[in-house]
Amino acid sequence: MNTTIQAILNRRSIRNFAATPLKQEEIDALVAAALASPTAMNRQLWAFRFITSQTLIAAMNDAALCHFRETGDQATLVRIAARHESIFYGAPLLVVIAMPAGAGRYAPIDAGIAAQNLAIAAQSLGLGSCIIGMASASFAGAGGQTILNQMDWPEGYEFAISIAIGHPAMTKEAHEIHPEKVRQIR
Ligand SMILES: Cc1cc2nc3c(=O)[nH]c(=O)nc-3n(C[C@H](O)[C@H](O)[C@H](O)COP(=O)(O)O)c2cc1C
Repeated sequence: MNTTIQAILNRRSIRNFAATPLKQEEIDALVAAALASPTAMNRQLWAFRFITSQTLIAAMNDAALCHFRETGDQATLVRIAARHESIFYGAPLLVVIAMPAGAGRYAPIDAGIAAQNLAIAAQSLGLGSCIIGMASASFAGAGGQTILNQMDWPEGYEFAISIAIGHPAMTKEAHEIHPEKVRQIR
């Protein structure tokens, strides 16, 4: 089987990373993969923040947990506690993808495609990843503006999606496959 299909089939959501930092050439390859993503009408509206500051990642986690506590979202807090002490699972790299607010229906699709490009690129480099939608909570609560200020956030942009990347410290089975969801129309 070709290596791209192998990377797609072997990717898992990794929820525990080793502390080992990524090499700069690995980060450079991930940046190239993100910027190579297709976008509707080639608008390339996204802004990427490649965050390796563990201080900032910890602050984002604290802000998210604080938001869930403020909103009384006990179910989410319990789910998080069962998985890891951080919603970013100890990843040495967090990529945040932002889109201009009100950019239309293709903006979240473009962001999702970039996230998957990053996930497959990470897999092909022998790294693991987990897409983290929950990171929206880092910006939603009282500490949100402080977080934005620390990442040179572009004016008028909003969080679209994020992806944690690093060396896996766990293995995971593939998710259940549902072939009945596919019809081949001949
Ligand atoms: C848009 C999106 C948001 C997600 N957000 C989170 C998240 O906040 N935290 C998390 O642990 N996993 C998150 N995931 C990972 C999914 O839970 C995971 O893809 C799914 O359970 C299937 O498992 P697999 O990725 O190992 O195949 C997200 C995935 C997607 C596509």
